[in-house]
Amino acid sequence: MKILDQDVQGGSALSYAGLLEKIEILRSRLRWASRLERPEIEKLLRQANALRDEVMQLSHKERFVQAASGEGVRVVQSPGERRRALLARSFVFEGTFGDNPRLLDALEVAEKAAPTDLPVLIDGESGTGKELMAKVIHANGSRADKPYISVNCGAIPENLLESELFGHRKGAFTGAVNDRKGKFESAHRGTIFLDEIGELPLAGQVKLLRVLQSHEIQRVGADEAISVDTRIVAATNRNLRKQCEEGSFREDLFYRLSVIHVSLPPLRERKDEIPLLFAYFCDEAAEALKRRPVKMTPRLRDFLVNYPYPGNIRELRNLIYRISCLGGDTAGVEHLPVDIRPQQQSATDALAAGTAASSLAGSGAASLSDAKRAASDEAERAFLERGLREVGGTVTELARRCDMNRSHLQMLLKKHGIHSKDFRHHEVPPQEEKRV
Ligand SMILES: Nc1ncnc2c1ncn2[C@@H]1O[C@H](COP(=O)(O)OP(=O)(O)O)[C@@H](O)[C@H]1O
Ligand SMILES: [Mg+2]
Repeated sequence: MKILDQDVQGGSALSYAGLLEKIEILRSRLRWASRLERPEIEKLLRQANALRDEVMQLSHKERFVQAASGEGVRVVQSPGERRRALLARSFVFEGTFGDNPRLLDALEVAEKAAPTDLPVLIDGESGTGKELMAKVIHANGSRADKPYISVNCGAIPENLLESELFGHRKGAFTGAVNDRKGKFESAHRGTIFLDEIGELPLAGQVKLLRVLQSHEIQRVGADEAISVDTRIVAATNRNLRKQCEEGSFREDLFYRLSVIHVSLPPLRERKDEIPLLFAYFCDEAAEALKRRPVKMTPRLRDFLVNYPYPGNIRELRNLIYRISCLGGDTAGVEHLPVDIRPQQQSATDALAAGTAASSLAGSGAASLSDAKRAASDEAERAFLERGLREVGGTVTELARRCDMNRSHLQMLLKKHGIHSKDFRHHEVPPQEEKRV
């Protein structure tokens, strides 16, 4: 693989955004390199050192002046550029990963909303990153060093809700043995995240509306009001508009809460990001489990790329942690949870997992010749996928390297349902420092 074809030192102007870009080029070279020889490692190290020296030359002031001055002329186009622009403006991602335009839309709205005290409503299916987005909003605002308090409105029994949110006075009800602060008071000067707001009973909605209007709370059993300065971010996986029509959610509260409205797309609508999320979570899991990033058999990868992820990013992340833990060096479909595992195990997976030949019979291969055909198919698929990965998804180049007719190669790709564009060298989106 040709990894050193671009000069990372290129460009004379020293700018924060420019440097970030260079670092990203270096990172993506490392990520996509299949193997590195010593001279190449030396060269990359030299480039990394040069970058570090350039970063050291930038003062704190220069970073921000230059990032801000770039803003006026910015014509934000590609997702990579949009993400870099956010980074250059010192946006805190809190680990939010991905370059999907709809995710970037949400991040850009969050960036604008963060410094204000306006309420934000985040909607999206479970596991799409609503809570993460609430943290992003908190982290990018002036309240970042103040408390962030998360409350799951769906998990609090109705009779305890008021006391949980607003606190109580000693003796207010049986069991109230002491005065107690509620979540709103705990989040004073900070942010309160009201998760699953659609589950809030109507009585609680009235009380919440009052807080939004008066910025005051009353502990259960107390006469006096206490003023609170708490920024509200709410989230729901339900359709609140519909709930308003049905009468289970107050319309006035809905409008109050959704001054800023952020929607997060489900993972199945941003499938293009799945391979990058694999790389991200495989690295993360490897770090957490203190082992090398797990490799996947082609069959497992194929399954995971096409799986619909009803639990969205949470489910994907959990699956990657699971296969990283159970899979040893290479994980196969047998490491998936039973309820989603595909029925038949392929011949090569069985072999790769070191299973005894007897299990081939149970793999769906009725005879030796069937087993041979299955293994040959898997080998063909693995060969094509590895080849495409090495040439960054360019079919013509792969055909040239394998000395194969291009249309024959196209036919083989079609046979296996392989899409060359899935192997194009995506830019690896910048992440927080801990991942650099
Ligand atoms: N864009 C993303 N990049 C990285 N991790 C994400 C992203 N979105 C969600 N996650 C992770 O997925 C899991 C579920 O996210 P969460 O914010 O709890 O979802 P929700 O509140 O919508 O159910 C968390 O571990 C979170 O860190
Ligand atoms: Mg949640």
